[in-house]
Formats: sequence, C-alpha cells, structure tokens
Amino acid sequence: MWDRLKARADAVQDRRIVDLMDDARATEFAVETATMRFDYAKTNLDAETRDMLLALAQDAGVAARRGAMFAGAPINETEGRAVLHTALRNLDGDAVMVDGQDVMPGVRETLARMEAYAGQVRDSAVTDVVNIGIGGSDLGPAMATQALSPYHDGPRVHFVSNVDGAHIADVLQGLEAKTTFVVVASKTFTTIETMTNARTARAWMSEHGGDPSAQFAALSTNLEKTAAFGIPGDRVFGFEDWVGGRYSMWGPIGLSLMIAIGPEGFRAFLRGGQEMDRHFRAAEGAENMPLMLALVGIWHRQACGYASRAVLPYDQRLGQLPAYLQQLEMESNGKSVAMDGTRIPVDTGPIVWGAPGTNGQHAFYQLIHQGTSVIPCEFMVAARGHEPELQHHHALLMANCLAQSEALMRGRTLDAALAKIADKFAGDELERQAAHRVFDGNRPSTTLVYETLDPFTLGQIIALYEHRVFVEGVILGINSYDQWGVELGKELATALQPIIEGETPADGKDGSTRALVAWLRARG
Ligand code: F6P
Repeated sequence: MWDRLKARADAVQDRRIVDLMDDARATEFAVETATMRFDYAKTNLDAETRDMLLALAQDAGVAARRGAMFAGAPINETEGRAVLHTALRNLDGDAVMVDGQDVMPGVRETLARMEAYAGQVRDSAVTDVVNIGIGGSDLGPAMATQALSPYHDGPRVHFVSNVDGAHIADVLQGLEAKTTFVVVASKTFTTIETMTNARTARAWMSEHGGDPSAQFAALSTNLEKTAAFGIPGDRVFGFEDWVGGRYSMWGPIGLSLMIAIGPEGFRAFLRGGQEMDRHFRAAEGAENMPLMLALVGIWHRQACGYASRAVLPYDQRLGQLPAYLQQLEMESNGKSVAMDGTRIPVDTGPIVWGAPGTNGQHAFYQLIHQGTSVIPCEFMVAARGHEPELQHHHALLMANCLAQSEALMRGRTLDAALAKIADKFAGDELERQAAHRVFDGNRPSTTLVYETLDPFTLGQIIALYEHRVFVEGVILGINSYDQWGVELGKELATALQPIIEGETPADGKDGSTRALVAWLRARG
C-alpha cells in the first residue's frame, strides 16, 4: 500500500491544486462539527487518493484499535498499560473497565477533590500559583492557561519547567512567599528538573517567610515519593499509569489551569474533549475530523515525503500550541521501530514546528513561500476574538490567515511577476528582478476554523490532535504511548554531572565531550 500511495503522490505532484478547486471541492474536502470546520481542499488530495487513504486506515485496523483504546485494553504494549486519558473527560459516560474494575468512580472522586481544592485556593488570600513540572506536566497546562486568559478569574498562574536556574529565579522574583502556592506536577515524581526546581522553591519559601508544609500540592502517580517530599495526602492529587504524561492535562495535571479559570471553565474544557471523543467514535470515514486530519498528515509525510509540518495558529493566545504539539506528536510518533519490534519501512512522524500568525509572516514564511522544501501548513483561526472593541484587528487577522493559504496555493507566475514590475525595470534587469518575485505556489495547507477560543473549543482542539496522533500511530504500527528515546540522554546527563562538577574524571568520554567539559570548567 505504501508503494501505491507514493506512486500516487508522484503521479499527481505536478498537478495544480488551484485547478482542482471549485465550490463543490470546498464542501467535499472539509469536515465540520457543531463549532469547527477543518478544510483540506487546498491540498493535492482528490477523491481517489482519499479513498486509498481511508482504505489504508481500514486495513491498519484503526476502528478496532480505537475501540480497544476506549475500552481500556493495554494498547501501550511496551509498558503493558491501558491508554485512557479519555476516561478523565468521560464526565457523563459509561463505565470504563481496567483489569475488571470501573475506573470512573475514582476519576470523578479526584475531579471533585480538585474542584473543592481549586475553589479553596481561589477563595483564599493566595495571589500567585507556581506550577513546577516539565514536558507533559508543563506544556499542556501552560499552553491552555495562556489560551484561556480571557477566562482567568483566580490567582495569577506561573509555570517553571527548565532546570536552568534562570527560569525559577525569574518567576520567583517579585512573588510574595506568604501568598504564593506551589504545585509540583510530575507523573513519576522523579524527574530531575522538576525535583530540583521543587526543592529550590521549597527553600525559597522557607527563607522568605512562607510555609512549604502548607503551601505545596503535588500531582503525581507516585504517592510514596510525594509523601517522602513532605506533601500531605490531602494535597496530593493522584492519577493512574494509564494516563500518559503528554495526555495528562485533563486530570490532576490540569489543576493550575483549573485554579486559573475555575472548576466550571475546566469542566467546559473536559466537555469539549468528550465531545470530540464522541465524534471520533461515531463519525464515519471522511466525516471523521481526527481521521481526516491524520490521513492528510500521512499523505504529506509518508506519501509526498514532506519532512515537516508547520502549525500556524492565527491566535496569539495559542502561542504555546506548537510547542505543546511538538511533544504530543514527536514524542508519540517519532519512532523507528514498530510495535512488533521490526523496523518501520517508511518515514514516521514529521518534524512539527510553528508560531502564531501574523508574527511568523514577518519571520520564517519567506522560506515557506519560496524555499526549496515544501512545508505543509496547518492554519487555524477563530471567527470571533475576545475583544469586540478591536474587531478591526480580528478582521485583519482572519484576512491574513486566509491570504497565506491562498498565496501558497496560487503562487505567482513569471508573467504576473513581469507585469507587476514592468513600469520599474526593463530588459535583462526586468527579467532578473521578476525571477525573485516568482512564487511556485501549489504548496498545500489546511485550515481549522472555530467559533471562538473558549474552554469547550480548546478541549475539542486538543482532543482532535490527540486522536490524530493515535490514528497516525496505528497506521504506522507505532506504539504512540511510550518514549524510550528520551532515556539515553537522561542516563548520560546523570553520569556527566559529577564530571562537570569536577568530582569524577572525564576519562572514558569522547574527545569532543572532554574538550567541552574542560572549556566550561575553566571558565565556570
Ligand atoms: O522525559 C520525557 C518525559 O517522561 C515526558 O514524557 C513527560 O511528560 C516528562 O518527561 C515529565 O515527566 P514527569 O511528569 O514524570 O515529571
């Protein structure tokens, strides 16, 4: 099938997307839910290719695997775990069984405890909350807290992730220890960066008149370690190992977000996720938004061979979405080995990157429009902003978003470039100048439009991307829920720390590493 798909991509690559376009295509190559529309009409997909991709998903057993995931089967096979972040947003859904036990009563109880606790913090004299975590224990809540800033009505929420002391120093500077609350977010409660920052925050609080024994909470699966750190059980919010780190913002890891927007807002976020789950389970074939988002991804990466994809939210408050999606997609599907231990015969997950528009237009879009690599772009924009008095800004924002996808598709021919500057240049100089103003065009993009970036919609968007990762993983035969690739660097860092600190000789390290250690030590 991969060969057929690649052959198809080769066969159609010179065809102009703009020539395929008509009103019928705009309807046929789009998927809608009640509040969102995903348009993939500006790609080089046609009905026949889409059928091939749908057949690929069917052959890969996406539907059966989806059923297995929602039913609590241990689809994270290398770790022998279920994958049930969906249970965290299954607010009024059916029982979800893991090892013969319904996990929903526990999920509801934890949510109720979080709500009571968030309410308490919001009603108290706490002015600032510092969330200490990294990776999935940071990127999700940090991204969502920024995304939903119009809904903040609680204490200020800050995020510290990097072990670089600059991060915690900058965040703590100016905070009042007596009215600051620290949330240590770590699934394992062993992550070196998080534990180092947590100890630093604890020392800062003691030194500045706060009381860490009363002003720390923990979010973790490791209740032994949270107790050993000295956080009492009533301020520990536990979850199970069937929630992956990068999928964990729907449960206790979302506590800081809940404190910022309130329990009601957080429930709306969960309802958005649950709504997307329902859609993902029920919608058939090309009507299924996560499935189509995934198949467009497969088409671009595995069939057309485009190495990266750019996520371009025309929504300033989604500024951290690209970083969040980098972890979600690249930690999930950046693998070379299939579930059965064999080498995967095709390219796997693409490089995911991006930044909000319109800023990116004035930075890296040059390469997207005229560079030698084709980069499929994923645009996003809301129909309404949160600043009615600045409607003209929003109109400009939307215009820019749509203009970019149109420009990428249409490009500009040499004749058009010549005509545009014919009054300024002549002869060879006209030819030379015009060449720089040609845009090849025919560059694919998709556009996700949504009504407004409220908690419900954000929940839908995040669940949409989670399911996209799932579908792409199943088609590639990957286990999207482990991350062995992060281990080696962690081990080597642990071994290097005493060498950097001069406690252990650098013998046994390679020449480059030894030279770098010597340089840093000499100047440190
Ligand atoms: O090192 C990668 C990783 O394990 C991520 O998968 C995870 O989100 C992050 O580290 C943080 O882990 P923890 O929540 O256990 O501190």
